[in-house]
Amino acid sequence: HPDIKPMYLTSDPTSFASVSVRERWPVILTGAIDDLHRTVSQVPDAENEKQAEGKSIIEELAKLKYEVQHDRKLTPLVDDGEPDIADYNKDLEQRGNPSWHNVPWLYSECYLYRRIATFFNLSKYWKGYDVFSRQKISTFKSSRPAVLELAARYKSLALEVEKGSQGLSPAQVEDAERLIFTEMCEICLWGNATDLSLLTTLTYEDIQKLQGSQARKASEKNIIVNDTNAAYDALRDARKEKKDGERRVDIVLDNAGFELFVDLILAGYLLSAGLATTVVLRPKVIPWFVSDVIPKDFADLLNALANPQAFYTAADDSGQQHAPLSEREVEEVSFLFGQWSQFHAEGKLVLRPHRFWTGPGSFWRLPYVAPGLYEDLKTAELVLFKGDLNYRKLTNDAAWDPTTPFTQAIGPLGPKSGVRILSFRTCKADVVVGLAPGEDERLRQVPGGGGDSGARKWAWSGKWAVVSFSDGKT
Ligand code: F6P
Ligand code: MG
Repeated sequence: HPDIKPMYLTSDPTSFASVSVRERWPVILTGAIDDLHRTVSQVPDAENEKQAEGKSIIEELAKLKYEVQHDRKLTPLVDDGEPDIADYNKDLEQRGNPSWHNVPWLYSECYLYRRIATFFNLSKYWKGYDVFSRQKISTFKSSRPAVLELAARYKSLALEVEKGSQGLSPAQVEDAERLIFTEMCEICLWGNATDLSLLTTLTYEDIQKLQGSQARKASEKNIIVNDTNAAYDALRDARKEKKDGERRVDIVLDNAGFELFVDLILAGYLLSAGLATTVVLRPKVIPWFVSDVIPKDFADLLNALANPQAFYTAADDSGQQHAPLSEREVEEVSFLFGQWSQFHAEGKLVLRPHRFWTGPGSFWRLPYVAPGLYEDLKTAELVLFKGDLNYRKLTNDAAWDPTTPFTQAIGPLGPKSGVRILSFRTCKADVVVGLAPGEDERLRQVPGGGGDSGARKWAWSGKWAVVSFSDGKT
């Protein structure tokens, strides 16, 4: 492809890639080992084969951690029967069998999670086990204040929508709708600030601060590229043109728990406002980047919300009890749950996993690697990509000049791709495009922004965000 640029490498000391391989991944692997250790210790002695197998997976995880820390070569993945193993191993060979501290960041991070999945896939007793599940559930518990606040906000909006627009001009109705759409998008965007792979640096208190409505208002100025209006126009026009036809919005999901909750808030809003007739949620098929959604997380979320009192007041791991929810709070959560369950039952809210999302490469490969999925995405009015990793995969995790247009940086998914894309991303990695000239330089000078170190540190923390649009036509 004529636009191809070099990818970020773990050997680059100015890149977050280097911090990731040296500091973050060992911590993440330690967490995985601890989790499995805990589960294995609860397996009854009568099931000694399962115990033994669990212990040998712990050893594999420890070995992997050792290899990462000691800059060993990435070894070919063991065939676990899934078709993507061949893609991973072909890539590895083509990259010249690299070692952990000198390898493209994107490839090595995908490899890390794919390798973990092979341990469980190849086992007899531990197939489908998710070492990150505990963490996902307990963090969702700690999101209680924001969940309750949003449930209340959602209900009051839904009632407003029901009251209708009597006495308003069409222009006023549209303005009001655009405003609510923008608010829903912002809620959904900032839900991405709190993924668990960064928990190595954030506390639960930090997370709660990031999730409230005041934080959201204050963060508006931190959205440094904002194409929300273009996405609204596209959905509004589609509603006019295809009044009775299907109009689908797809959400390529990122994280479970609170982020999935806000994705559903947006999905529920789009459906009730008639800006979409169907929403397709696209999760991963294996545990991924710690907190990404797999189908079971969707079920876990709905189960939690089906009985919020039990979920939110049960003693947590530390034995701490929580105050009961008020009747009103329970009622507001039930309202949400009721709406979502109904949309789900009517087939308007569906889950469609695909293995492509956990492949080794960027989304530039979509048309060649997953042509069926590509065709499917073309039939949506809008495909919303959530989160940092999806943004890295859209832009090939490459060292673009930050003023490069987004439509160019997404290569084959840009102009004439036939896929209309909106990307919601809080910045947690070096790559960023679509900035106004001088913006990167300005942000580097803010405290902690990286200064003259050569590192784009401002883009690592999730404090800044971009909302980027590509029409997929011209
Ligand atoms: O930058 C830290 C990081 O863990 C990246 O490795 C990864 O791209 C991203 O965060 C995961 O974040 P998200 O859940 O938003 O994709
Ligand atoms: Mg994620």
